[in-house]
Amino acid sequence: MAKGFYISKNMGLAGLLMGTVAVVIIIALAAVYDKEKTKNQNKPVDGVAMLTTASPTTSSTLSTPKDPWEHYRLPDSLSPVSYNITLWPRLVVNASTGLYIFTGQSAVVFQCKKDTDLIVIHCNKLNLTLLNGHHARLTGLDGATAPTVKTSWLQVKTEYLVIQLNGKLTAGKSYRLSTDFQGELADDLKGFYRSEYTEDGGKKVVATSQMQATFARKAFPCFDEPAMKAVFHITLIHQRGTVALSNGRDVETVNSTIDGTEVTMTRFEPTKRMSTYLLAFIVSDFDHITGSIENNNVRIWARRKAIAEGHGNYALNVTGPMLKFFERYYNASYPLSKSDQIALPDFNAGAMENWGLITYRETALLYDPAISSVGNKERVLTVVAHELAHMWFGNLVTLRWWNDLWLNEGFASYVEYLGADYAEPTWNIKEQTILNDVHKVFAVDALASSHPLSRKEEEVNQPDEISEMFNTISYSKVLYVLENLLQQGFLCSRTSPTFAFNNTVYSDLWDHLQKAVLTTPGMSLPHTVHDIMNRWILQMGFPVVTIDTAMGHITQKHFLLDPDSVVDRPSPYNYTWLVPIKWMKGGVEREQHWLLQETGISNASVSGSEWVLANLNVSGYYRVNYDMDNWERLLNQLTTDHTVIPLINRAQIVDDAFNLARAKVINTTLALRTTRYLSQERDYIPWESALRNLNYYILMFDRGQAYGVLQGYLKMQITPLFEYFRTITVDWTRVPTGHNDQVNVIVFLLFNDADFVFMQLFIDRIHPNLKKTVYCNAIAAGGVEEWDFAWQMFKNATVATEAAKLRSSLACTKVPWLLNRYLDYSLDPAKIRKQDCTSTINYIAGNVVGMPLAWDFIRARWNYIYTEYGGGSFSFSNLINSVTRRFSTEFELKQLKQFKEDNARVGFGSGTLALEQAIERTTANIKWVAENQEHVMKWLANECT
Ligand SMILES: *[C@@H]1O[C@H](CO)[C@@H](O)[C@H](O)[C@H]1NC(C)=O
Ligand SMILES: *[C@@H]1O[C@H](CO)[C@@H](O)[C@H](O)[C@H]1NC(C)=O
Ligand SMILES: *[C@@H]1O[C@H](CO)[C@@H](O)[C@H](O)[C@H]1NC(C)=O
Ligand SMILES: *[C@@H]1O[C@H](CO)[C@@H](O)[C@H](O)[C@H]1NC(C)=O
Ligand SMILES: *[C@@H]1O[C@H](CO)[C@@H](O)[C@H](O)[C@H]1NC(C)=O
Ligand SMILES: [Zn+2]
Repeated sequence: MAKGFYISKNMGLAGLLMGTVAVVIIIALAAVYDKEKTKNQNKPVDGVAMLTTASPTTSSTLSTPKDPWEHYRLPDSLSPVSYNITLWPRLVVNASTGLYIFTGQSAVVFQCKKDTDLIVIHCNKLNLTLLNGHHARLTGLDGATAPTVKTSWLQVKTEYLVIQLNGKLTAGKSYRLSTDFQGELADDLKGFYRSEYTEDGGKKVVATSQMQATFARKAFPCFDEPAMKAVFHITLIHQRGTVALSNGRDVETVNSTIDGTEVTMTRFEPTKRMSTYLLAFIVSDFDHITGSIENNNVRIWARRKAIAEGHGNYALNVTGPMLKFFERYYNASYPLSKSDQIALPDFNAGAMENWGLITYRETALLYDPAISSVGNKERVLTVVAHELAHMWFGNLVTLRWWNDLWLNEGFASYVEYLGADYAEPTWNIKEQTILNDVHKVFAVDALASSHPLSRKEEEVNQPDEISEMFNTISYSKVLYVLENLLQQGFLCSRTSPTFAFNNTVYSDLWDHLQKAVLTTPGMSLPHTVHDIMNRWILQMGFPVVTIDTAMGHITQKHFLLDPDSVVDRPSPYNYTWLVPIKWMKGGVEREQHWLLQETGISNASVSGSEWVLANLNVSGYYRVNYDMDNWERLLNQLTTDHTVIPLINRAQIVDDAFNLARAKVINTTLALRTTRYLSQERDYIPWESALRNLNYYILMFDRGQAYGVLQGYLKMQITPLFEYFRTITVDWTRVPTGHNDQVNVIVFLLFNDADFVFMQLFIDRIHPNLKKTVYCNAIAAGGVEEWDFAWQMFKNATVATEAAKLRSSLACTKVPWLLNRYLDYSLDPAKIRKQDCTSTINYIAGNVVGMPLAWDFIRARWNYIYTEYGGGSFSFSNLINSVTRRFSTEFELKQLKQFKEDNARVGFGSGTLALEQAIERTTANIKWVAENQEHVMKWLANECT
């Protein structure tokens, strides 16, 4: 749920090019732009959300509370074996409470590991029916006698049901604890919740669930920790005519009448031994499609209309081949008897890997070739690949605790690209990892306020701390760290069967890989897997490697974006890494060396008069700097024949240069010079890399006078590209055929005036890839009438990708009162679905006019937002990131600090780290603008003449 939603730099660029000209020039970075947006919301794709209580994230570790029920971690005296759960969600309002509710019974069989007179089990927001005067009934099994209950209560803060007994449970014996309960089927997107949509003019209600990370306890009392695996026997009671789904295959469906209500009871096969966070319960009126005879246990579910119109077909098409691919990759067959994937109208994350019943946002599973863009299609492909990858890693083998979430997610993010690449081999999906993962994580991990990938188990306790683990670093860093090893010929099919249906910690994986190294003929590593990997995961950040071609010397240093920032987090390795160096010299690939720690190494083969390019194909997680002569040689090569340098490295040179300049390792002019060759560049990846970096300049300057010259320079550089695409699209009449051409295409559309643009909006001729840009520009050029019209289109849209495009475009207006009204709408669930409120505010903040309005808005409403929306639907870190991205003045820094102080009592939940990062970033921005504005303007002005 992290990763900012914002109007991308492409939009900023569009604004840049539009401003001055009489004719409205619209630059549509077509699919590129589309992709950017979806990418920004895409990861973490899996579920997790914020907690509701306003307790600050601080120091659960500092004071050790006395009683077990005051700890956030369960005692180790009891271990669940199996559950028997019956749930009955009501899809109509309950007359006596005025709420949507569900009722349920649950019985958990557990084994006692250590004698105890205390039962502590998770339970949140459930009203338990008293049984014999207590909250639960305890029975002894296999001849064990259960002690009687002395007293029982709900410990609200730590989310427990606590039962004190009159005697002891005996180690080795098993018991059953039964509960009857009622809960609210709220629209809060977590636990067992409800989603609503309109079909054929009528309201429909779906009961669905999101358990990760800590919400299973909101559906039934359970030992809600990932290592507390058990077998679940699930029965759902539901209205006749609806369909019930869960993790396992349904094995029995019977009609009956309960208390005068006609219902259907669907019983599911017992699950495999699994974690509570992977459970799923869904009751709906949905329809489905099924794969071929061979794949008849693969189903895609969605609203009836969406299925009828074929929107599930693409996901179904790619699921079969990808499952086959993963079976081979993991060298283990698909662990379950069926695979369901379902698209939900209300869903907080992008998708959630519930075992056997994966849940998605509609935009992440459904694809309509007529309406959705190529970016939408790619999104479906990669999210499906990611979630299917989890069916083995994450679900079959599970990390012991949330501190190791990075391994689960990092691995899935890595394997995701392999699966997606297998299903769509012509798309070059893997090349895009550099943009989507590496650059993004570099940006966060270069701050002194970053954190090591792996945290100690004791550092992560409360639900807030758990949800903070779902951030960019967790998802992306390990991908490249692992790549370092994998490229050595390691195959992850070596993941151990030892841990199937069980839990593990990262060091088990290193052990396992180390064994593989030792037993693989011809394989050798100069260090152990532990030595190499621990340096990457136990210390934050990454190095900049400096190649001095004059001296033939290679050194490394911790890279910090702000050279003046203070790193107060100690590192067991002194911030040095074992860096795999692979380089090219004068166009020839050279061997790999392991760079040793502080001292660096000397290597004659990096010296000489030919250009040296290190981190070939960006296979390592580090930045590279060179001596000035070598920089000059590289720049020279770029302008004479850039194709000699690999595509990914062209993107990387630009990104490294801009970031090294930000960190004052090289000067800004050198960074700007890496963009000169772009007038010859036709490929998407280097352009995108440059635009992302120049976007920083746009953000820093778009409220000041430097903006004009920047606009001029970009226009000059982009014009040859424009002409190139004009040619290959035959004057914009033809859509490029290949996926990459579509992704690469940068299209300018010329319109005479805004009215014409607006007419275009509503005739169905706009190619899906261009829609978002056309909508945005039409709304930007228009006023209230256009806005209201587009709002109606948004409300009436039946395809989620279409609604998403309109929703983001509504933030493009330049009219302040419309933006303010839209901000108000974002907090009204009747107007904007709760799942979409953060991203809507982020879109508004991405607009240069909207940014200050959004900042005022969240400051004024923080308390309200935190208490009302603090639950599943709000990503505070995204919100803080997007609203503060342009901050670059002392005044804004002061406001930010004031905001932190004013709301210290309310808290920032999962945005705590983001707020620290915003302060650090603003401080760096202030310095950067002061030091650079002048000569950047000069350089740009000089280029343009
Ligand atoms: C589960 O509970 C139902 C109803 O309470 C009962 O009929 C059934 O025997 C139980 N099944 C198991 C496996 O405990
Ligand atoms: C749970 O009990 C409280 C207090 O009696 C009541 O206000 C609330 O509506 C109940 N919730 C449900 C879902 O029944
Ligand atoms: C249950 O009732 C529904 C609707 O009345 C009917 O369509 C279905 O066939 C019945 N199922 C069984 C197993 O009797
Ligand atoms: C799914 O596959 C079928 C059969 O290969 C093909 O005809 C269809 O166009 C595909 N659908 C999508 C949306 O890719
Ligand atoms: C799970 O792993 C632990 C630790 O390796 C082991 O003690 C336990 O027996 C395993 N449990 C099962 C069910 O395999
Ligand atoms: Zn995941």
